[in-house]
Amino acid sequence: MGVDAIMRPLLRRRTAFLVIETKPALILVEDDLSVLRALRRLMLSAGFKVMAFDRPRAVLDIELPKTEACLIVDVHLPEMNGVQLCEALQKHGVSALDTAPYSVRFVTHCDVDRSGCERAISVLQDVIAKTHRDVMQFTMGYSMPREKILANEETFKDIYTWINAVESPKYPYPIDQALARRGGIVYASNCAKCHGTYGAGAHYPERVVALSEVGTDPVRARDFPVAFIKHLDEGWVGQYGQTPINLAVNGYIAPPLDGIWANAPYLHNGSVPTIWDLLTPASRPSVWTRTDTGYDQQKLGVESKSFDKLPDDATDPVQKRRYYQTNVRGFSNQGHQFPPQGLSDDNKRALIEYLKTL
Ligand code: HEC
Repeated sequence: MGVDAIMRPLLRRRTAFLVIETKPALILVEDDLSVLRALRRLMLSAGFKVMAFDRPRAVLDIELPKTEACLIVDVHLPEMNGVQLCEALQKHGVSALDTAPYSVRFVTHCDVDRSGCERAISVLQDVIAKTHRDVMQFTMGYSMPREKILANEETFKDIYTWINAVESPKYPYPIDQALARRGGIVYASNCAKCHGTYGAGAHYPERVVALSEVGTDPVRARDFPVAFIKHLDEGWVGQYGQTPINLAVNGYIAPPLDGIWANAPYLHNGSVPTIWDLLTPASRPSVWTRTDTGYDQQKLGVESKSFDKLPDDATDPVQKRRYYQTNVRGFSNQGHQFPPQGLSDDNKRALIEYLKTL
C-alpha cells in the first residue's frame, strides 16, 4: 500500500478522530515513573482524560469515575500485581473485567518471572505488527462479541494510521555538525546496507538478518517460528494471507534508525543501554540499572550504572526488577558485532554524532 493510500483515510477522518468528545477516562497504573510519565503525556496529547498512579493502592484510595473508563495497568507492581488490583477493584464494586463501564488493558515487558501469556503479549506485537488487526487483537479482550469487534474496525484503522504517521522526535540537545558529517561517512560504509540511508534519496531496505549473522539473543525469534507466523498470517489477524510478511528468514529485522536516540535501551530485548555499548561488544555491561530519567548524551542512551553481578541488597522481586541481568534466558546482550573488526573510538564518537541527526 502506498503512502497515499494510507494517508487518505486519515485525512478524511482526522477531524472526527481527534475531537471525539466521549473518550473514556484512562486510569494508568505503572510503577516505572519514566514510563508512567511518557504514557500519560502520550494519552493526554491524544485528548484523553488521564489519571496516573505509580502504586496500585493509590487507585483503591480514590473515588473512581462512574463513567466509562479504561484501566491501563502494569502487571508487575509493588504491593500487589495488576491482576490482583483488578480483583480488588471488583471487590470495591467496580467491574474491572471487559464488561462496561471498565475495561482493562495490561502492559508488561519480558521479565524474569513472566508467565507464558504475558510473554506472548509483549513479544507478538513486534513479530506481526503489520495491520490494524494486530492492534485490535491485543486491545480488545477475548470476551468481546464479534459484532463489537467488527463495529470497531474503522476506528482501529484510524488509530493504526495515526501510529504510522507519528514522526520520530528530534534530538533535543546540541549536535556537533562537523563531527556528524564525518560520522555520516562511517555510517555509509558500515551500517547503511542493513539500516538504510536517510536524507535526500532515503532508502530503507527492510532487511531481515538471519540469527547466524546478527548473533543477538535468539529466544524471541525461536519462540515464534515461521510456521506460527504463517498460521497467524493465514487467519483473521493477517487478513487471510493478504499482509506482506517475510517468511524466508528466521531472524530479526534491521530497524530504521530515525529517532534512534530516543529508542534506548537497544536491541529487540532492550539489553544494551547505549549506542556506545552497542558499538563496543566486548565491554557491554552484564548487569545494569538505569536512572529514573537521566539521558547519556555522550554514549547516546539511557543513563545507567553497571555491575558485575546483581548487588547483594537486591533481594525481593521488585528490587531485582530494577536491574537488567543479561544472563537470564532471552536477555542476552551479545551479537550485533558490526563491523566485525570494530570501530576506533574516534569513529564511534563521529558515528554517534551522526545518529543524533536522524
Ligand atoms: C548485517 C546487517 C547489519 C549491519 C551491518 C548493522 N546492523 Fe544494526 N541491526 C541489525 C539487526 C538485524 C538489528 C536488530 C537486532 C536485534 O534487535 O536483535 C540491528 C539493531 C541495531 C540497533 C538497535 C535498534 C533498536 O531500536 O534497538 C542499532 C542502534 C543499530 N543496529 C545500529 C547499527 C549501526 C550504527 C551499525 C553500523 C556500525 C549497524 N547497526 C550495522 C543489522 C545490522
